[in-house]
Amino acid sequence: MVKFATKGAFFEKLDFSSIDEKAQKVSEMIANRSGEGNAFLGWLDFASNLPEEEIERIIKTANRLRNNYEALVIVGIGGSYLGTKAVIEAMNGLYPQDNFEILYLGNTLSSSYTAQILQHLKNKKFAINVVSKSGTTTEPAVAFRILKCYLEEKYGHEYLKDAIVATTDKSRGALVKEAQTEGYETFVIPNNIGGRFSVLTPVGLLPIACAGIDIREFIRGIRDGEVAYAESDYRKNPAYLYAINRYFLNKVGKYPVEMFVTYEPQNKSILEWLKQLLDESEGKDGQGLLCTAASFTTDLHSMGQFIQQGTPCLFETILHVDKPVLDITVPYDKDNLDNLNYLSGRKLSEINQKAYIATLEAHTSSHTPATIVSIDEMTPYNIGNLMYFFFKATAFSAYMLEVNPFNQPGVEVYKTNMFKLLGKPGYENK
Ligand code: PA5
Repeated sequence: MVKFATKGAFFEKLDFSSIDEKAQKVSEMIANRSGEGNAFLGWLDFASNLPEEEIERIIKTANRLRNNYEALVIVGIGGSYLGTKAVIEAMNGLYPQDNFEILYLGNTLSSSYTAQILQHLKNKKFAINVVSKSGTTTEPAVAFRILKCYLEEKYGHEYLKDAIVATTDKSRGALVKEAQTEGYETFVIPNNIGGRFSVLTPVGLLPIACAGIDIREFIRGIRDGEVAYAESDYRKNPAYLYAINRYFLNKVGKYPVEMFVTYEPQNKSILEWLKQLLDESEGKDGQGLLCTAASFTTDLHSMGQFIQQGTPCLFETILHVDKPVLDITVPYDKDNLDNLNYLSGRKLSEINQKAYIATLEAHTSSHTPATIVSIDEMTPYNIGNLMYFFFKATAFSAYMLEVNPFNQPGVEVYKTNMFKLLGKPGYENK
């Protein structure tokens, strides 16, 4: 279960009573599904309503792909891949010991990156999971076409049917039509769940299962989250308490930036997922915190100076995992030329933990308060539970700012400009 704590002088004199009434209304709005954008609250109880047959079909497909191919390319952008990557990296690490490789494409328009992935795949038998709720997003659509043409040229058209799995809307968009025409296996993204809340649907479940991770445990963690973070009194609900604290840091402390921090590089993609979840949900009508991410102690050697003594513009939210996935002991060296024998025999995780405590003290005693979200260890159960915690916190946070958590109208502006520049039919006069 997720634990929540705060550290720093800022929190000592905080009095939440001024927002009690508003917070109560917001928590009722979520529970009663009466707030703006409520048609997209399907994630609230999706996991507990997920039929066993659907879980079985996902696992069966994942096993088919694992058994018949050497790699899976997940083609998607934003909510269609960030949660997946977050779970897979947190569980399997950045250099996984698995014969079945997972790669990501369609999350960029970079020709160099795309060409390099193709080079990397040259001698591998790979499958594709194309994920797009709208079925029309340019980045994944272009990457999907490139990958398909590559496979078709190499193995012929027949190869595509078994090698491609499409995860998309039930009936809307170009992807579902193509999947029906070509006979690809298809999984549905429910239309009451937006992209950034979709990791708990087949969007995340299929590729996570393909990575050999126990999705039943992941789902169990989410289901338990539905109960654990249902309390309507925000003072008793850790997800809402986190949301209220960051609301005060923003509105009272005048901090415009929340920096998510991890001490485990393999959890950095969770922070990337969080950036999207919160920035896209809150950042509208001139409101919201800018969420950014850092990996310590790495970034202490680049951003640490600024955090300690620079413009006081940010607070930290530390994602703390009590127990590391793996550990290693510092060896003894009889010559001790590096003067490190005072650390010999000690676990690297202990040194990392001391760095965490020391940094927390240093930053919070200056002008950088911290909120701390912790789990005891990174398991499929805990990460499911953690993600649900952040879903609840995000909905609550956005409603506290009186914005619709579930749309992203601002993202369309660059797309319209780009389509005009590219000469997309229908965009000539926009
Ligand atoms: O949260 C969102 O809705 C977005 O970030 C989408 O996930 C992203 O734009 C990709 O959209 P789609 O899945 O329709 O290709």
